[in-house]
Amino acid sequence: MQRTIFVTTALPYSNGSFHIGHIMEYIQADIWVRSMRMHGHKVYFVSADDAHGAPIMLKAEAMGITPKELTDLYNKERPTYLNGFNIKFDHWHSTDSKENISLSHEIYKKLKEKNLIERRTIQQLYDPIKNMFLADRYIKGTCPRCKSDNQYGDSCEECGSTYNPNELINPYSTLTGATPLLRSSEHLFFKLSDSRCVNFLREWIRTKNINNKNKLQDEVVAKIREWLGKDEENSKLEDWDISRDEPYFGIEIPDFKGKYFYVWLDAPIGYLSSLKSYCALQGIDFEKLLNKNNSIEQVHFIGKDIIYFHTLFWPVMLNFSERKTPDSVYVHGFVTIDGEKMSKSRGTGISPLRYLDLGLNPEWLRYYFASKLNSKVEDIDINKNDFIVKVNSDLVGKYINIASRAAPFITKFFDGKLKFDENTEELINEIELKVDLVSNLFEEREYNKAIREIMGYANYTNQIFDNSRPWDILKKAKNIDPLATKNLHEICSATIARFKALSVMLSPILPKTARSIFLDFFKIEYPAKWQDALILPEKIESFKHMMSRVDEDIFSKLFDQNPEKKENMPIATNKEFINIEDFIKLELIVAKIIDCENVDQSDKLLRLTLDCGEKNYRNVFSGIKGHYKPNDIIGKLVILVSNLKPRKMRFGISEGMVLAASSTDGSSSKIYLIEPPNSAKPGTRIS
Ligand code: MSP
Ligand code: ZN
Repeated sequence: MQRTIFVTTALPYSNGSFHIGHIMEYIQADIWVRSMRMHGHKVYFVSADDAHGAPIMLKAEAMGITPKELTDLYNKERPTYLNGFNIKFDHWHSTDSKENISLSHEIYKKLKEKNLIERRTIQQLYDPIKNMFLADRYIKGTCPRCKSDNQYGDSCEECGSTYNPNELINPYSTLTGATPLLRSSEHLFFKLSDSRCVNFLREWIRTKNINNKNKLQDEVVAKIREWLGKDEENSKLEDWDISRDEPYFGIEIPDFKGKYFYVWLDAPIGYLSSLKSYCALQGIDFEKLLNKNNSIEQVHFIGKDIIYFHTLFWPVMLNFSERKTPDSVYVHGFVTIDGEKMSKSRGTGISPLRYLDLGLNPEWLRYYFASKLNSKVEDIDINKNDFIVKVNSDLVGKYINIASRAAPFITKFFDGKLKFDENTEELINEIELKVDLVSNLFEEREYNKAIREIMGYANYTNQIFDNSRPWDILKKAKNIDPLATKNLHEICSATIARFKALSVMLSPILPKTARSIFLDFFKIEYPAKWQDALILPEKIESFKHMMSRVDEDIFSKLFDQNPEKKENMPIATNKEFINIEDFIKLELIVAKIIDCENVDQSDKLLRLTLDCGEKNYRNVFSGIKGHYKPNDIIGKLVILVSNLKPRKMRFGISEGMVLAASSTDGSSSKIYLIEPPNSAKPGTRIS
């Protein structure tokens, strides 16, 4: 029976490039989708950029561009990653789209009709300089419990306690440094604690999906039960604040002026919007397709950090807006590297782009992830040696090796034609059994088990080939022994038939390799179906290179913390490239030197008094003595790194750094202060 399946991956925030964790998620989902299509099922596989929210708004602002421009920037580079790793979505959309606005409005209206939305006035910290309410992450201060400095608004990293942002001692806005004020504001709450929601959720997690299978993994159900609370009556669920005050980059709430939907309200609706936009392109009726009376399956692949949103809010939102609820939410763990959590700031983590730039085969990574993935919420570790061993010994040493040994006999002595024993039933049964087992393991997302089966079968294939001693038979055959010739022909043919079955079974993981094997070696159609494994091949082309081994030296470069200068780089640099995220951390402003004097105790330093605009003056020590005389530079404009941590020096505190070019020519060195044009105003931001 042909199934229709709607599959999504989590929508990545569009304020950054993909990292290896995103790629892992897409590979996991892509393998699943391919394996389902091999049954002949109809799959709609979509994703989108999650474009809304305060971080995106603030980052765009810091870069001096609109949030839309910021999203476009990252959206443009998406195909390089996706095509690079053979990840094939049918459609990629954005939550900042007309479809998402209208669907969000519709769903909101339904929820409101159901009396699940309520207005409440809340007290919230407000930045009086930036003129905006501050999300917890933009507030820091001293922990009210252990008194450690510099703790976030919602929890303390030192003692682990959680609290309300207005409990912080000496709170400040991380955006401006201002002391936040407590202000009241009207917000919309979604009544998740309503007994209708709680009862629905209890039922939803308990009942099977359209395929009579569990909707969620056991670990996930256990988590939800914790959130729901043991007691039937007293759930622990709290109502959900779904509105934000302006300025906010998001979807305006239709009947609530100056208020926007919180990003997590419209983000999952983005799944539907992406499908809707794809349907429009394909001439499909979206509402008819994704209808709760239709037998379409809805499957979400997500990471473990966003379970709450996908298994509580999302099914409730859908159910009470009379829409279809998810059939499966498949949760994966996090990618770790050599057992360590990835951290962009510490530079650990493997860059997907660098992987591609180094010319490493994307199918190796797909295979490696698959060999680690199962249906549990477990972290997936990338380990250099493990990777090399898996790829070289499994893929090349076991799988490709089969064709490289058996094919030459067939092409050299039998004109590329295969010939089987009269009784092919046994061979076909053997293949069928394997293919059934393996295709089920793919459906269950037990990729590691599938690979174990596949590699077991590759071992077996190699073994019977070896045990039948084809080289010895060849000697006999050469002495014109017809029986030996027949024997050799059949042994090699059966081996090639098993190789074909292996290629079919590996094709969800290695789509590109499988494609060229089907098209160029077997001359059959691609993409293959599972059933194709049971059709014994009739002929082959001569064996050509199918996959190389991992070169340890090149592969090691992926793990370098500071990759050496890359070839063909357009800009001369002997340092690692930085991302735009790194660059915008720098706050550069125009400043005017309004006073300058020699520091007597130092032969390098001048003391500068800088006008930084808006009556903001700073004291900066600069190592330019001997290059400039104090009186000559008073009145000059300079560029100040204004967010450099103030540094205590013997002569006083230096509150920043001015930019200068310096060159050394033999024994003499020169320093040139960088001067903005005279018309620039002190305080102007440089980016
Ligand atoms: N925008 C939200 C999702 C909205 S879905 C309606 C978001 N974006 S994200 O870019 O932070 O994460 C996207 C996906 O990547 C999530 O499924 C997340 O769990 C996953 N991962 C983020 N870091 C990861 C790893 N280190 N390893 C594996 N997956 C990781 O959350
Ligand atoms: Zn604390």
